[in-house]
Amino acid sequence: MIKARRSVREIKEYVAGKNVEEVAASYGIDERSIVKLASNENCLGPSPMAVEAIREAARDAHVYPSVDAIELRQAIADRYSMPLGTVVCGAGMDGVLETLLRAYLESGDETIIPLPAFSYYEIVTRFCGATPVFCERRSDFSLDVDAVLEKVTGKTKFIFITSPNNPTGNITSIEDIRAVAEAVEAIVFVDEAYIDFAEDAKSALDLAREFDNVVVGRTMSKAWGLAGMRIGFGFIPEPAFKEYMKVATPFALSRISIAAALAALGDEDHYRRSVSTVRGERRFLTGHLPFKIFPSDANFLLMDTSPLTSGHVVSECMKRGIILRDCASFRGMGDRYVRITIGTHDQNLRLIDALKAIRETAVRGTEE
Ligand SMILES: Cc1ncc(COP(=O)(O)O)c(C=O)c1O
Repeated sequence: MIKARRSVREIKEYVAGKNVEEVAASYGIDERSIVKLASNENCLGPSPMAVEAIREAARDAHVYPSVDAIELRQAIADRYSMPLGTVVCGAGMDGVLETLLRAYLESGDETIIPLPAFSYYEIVTRFCGATPVFCERRSDFSLDVDAVLEKVTGKTKFIFITSPNNPTGNITSIEDIRAVAEAVEAIVFVDEAYIDFAEDAKSALDLAREFDNVVVGRTMSKAWGLAGMRIGFGFIPEPAFKEYMKVATPFALSRISIAAALAALGDEDHYRRSVSTVRGERRFLTGHLPFKIFPSDANFLLMDTSPLTSGHVVSECMKRGIILRDCASFRGMGDRYVRITIGTHDQNLRLIDALKAIRETAVRGTEE
């Protein structure tokens, strides 16, 4: 059997959150009673207008979509007041990341990834034959600009800044992002998958307008409720656009995804309700969970499960039909952190009860 490229063989597989079907089968639980709070999806579901548009678009499923999703790119350009020639789309932000890095990274290049981080940056870096260089965020998970800049070499092509960060939930200040962008030639990829949920955070879009080395990545998987449709977009410098398009998969977005995205963008009410539900429930959950919670501007919370291990808490929750994300699979996170997607009020109440019971049982166990 012919072997895959060495750089691919060395990649650790991406670990996704557990899905409902797996948990139902493993624990013998009815799928309908399972609550999935593991993948930072939209707890209100998709916009009804998007669902209708999907139905409608399905009639033309036999016809190729536009090669470069021009109608969606134009709608995004209008919404964010960015030139059309800077807007790219892909199969999720994952698709945008993959295409951009494929266009720019060569073997021997380096990318800088402040930890803890979303693991796909490392995977794409490696499959492009480049080397991920890690630095640590501070103990409160804020970005340590000096630590980032210390890692910059002549080989650095990308620096990833996620704001709000996954899995920690905290925002990175525009001043810190600016300090990095000003100091380097490398492309600063600002991942704003969760920015819609932030209370008063400023987007790095202004920096993308000002600097020719700042890229902003966005997704319709979170606040827009379309994770299953795989729609991501990004704002890249105009000179990069031509290069991006050369390596982009033609027809990367399906006709149905494009229709869903356009309809979702037209449903401002659903978007606002999604954001305000997350903000309200985030305050509620933060005040009621029986473990340490870190401040979050995203649609999830990071929880320190000490004195219990994250594995114990996640598996006890799973037995009760609640799926959470064990952060042990995130590089450098250890075994004390769990990431919790903010759910509906009822889901959150169920989670609070389950976690209280798990904590009390464990405390009683140590007292006996
Ligand atoms: C920080 C971050 N960036 C990017 C993505 C990818 O999102 P998409 O669903 O658009 O591929 C995710 C997904 O959870 C994420 O957490």
